[in-house]
Amino acid sequence: MIIFHQTAAISNYVENQHRNGLHTGFVPTMGALHEGHISLIRQSGEANNITICSIFVNPTQFNNPADFAKYPSTLEKDIDLLEASGCSALFLPNTSSIYPDGYKTIHYPLGYLDSVLEGSFRPGHFQGVCQVVDRLLQIIPATNLYLGQKDFQQCMVIRALIDYKKIPVKLHIGATIRESDGLAMSSRNMRLNAEERQRAVQIYRTLTFIRDHFHTHKLKDLQEQAIIQLKQAGFKIDYVSLCNDKLEAQERWDGESIVQALIAAYLNEVRLIDNMCVSN
Ligand code: PAF
Repeated sequence: MIIFHQTAAISNYVENQHRNGLHTGFVPTMGALHEGHISLIRQSGEANNITICSIFVNPTQFNNPADFAKYPSTLEKDIDLLEASGCSALFLPNTSSIYPDGYKTIHYPLGYLDSVLEGSFRPGHFQGVCQVVDRLLQIIPATNLYLGQKDFQQCMVIRALIDYKKIPVKLHIGATIRESDGLAMSSRNMRLNAEERQRAVQIYRTLTFIRDHFHTHKLKDLQEQAIIQLKQAGFKIDYVSLCNDKLEAQERWDGESIVQALIAAYLNEVRLIDNMCVSN
């Protein structure tokens, strides 16, 4: 695996692949890699000649400075995992090469997506995500882009960014990878202590509870039950939401639409998110 630090060098590398008629896949990450990321690297490896991963903890997407300061970093292990999974190149930029003109504020017209759920609890978060992904895709103009379904709203936001900026990349969304007890893999899980880690699985259990009772209960009752379950497990809840595929909250099921349950909640200092399609 080739490691690049300079933007011009990785851009040349990617453009050379395209000149030779090869396809490139790109997996942007913030490091602290786990099997969720590695499954995207493998998915890219199956469909592309070259797979590129980036590790950059993007300051502009953290609305909470403490969360940024505590974001886990496991670079040596990440490099080993990437090499073992067949990744071709790793881009490890510093902040000034991503933001050579400083953190200029750019506004991306995300509309509704920017203000609901994650957007409402993490103001500015998706603007920061768009800023960095827009910049990364300028540096790494890959054929295919791979993101994980765990960040459901982020996938929708990046799809909106690609459409708005007419970026010539195809977005692929990989399934959420779970621990054996069901907890969605996340870099933030590393910040849970042993006791919190045991309780964290309640998010998955609550999502499966909603799915298993979806056809026999009112959505409002399921949402209320979910909140009770999470509170009993010691979570401080940001939201439990039942939405359609446009992320519009649903009070009742129309019998046809896809319904996605989305949860964001804190266990002490650690904020966890997860989602599940509950209607089929
Ligand atoms: O999901 C993430 O890890 C980040 O939000 C991303 C897409 C790498 C942008 O910093």
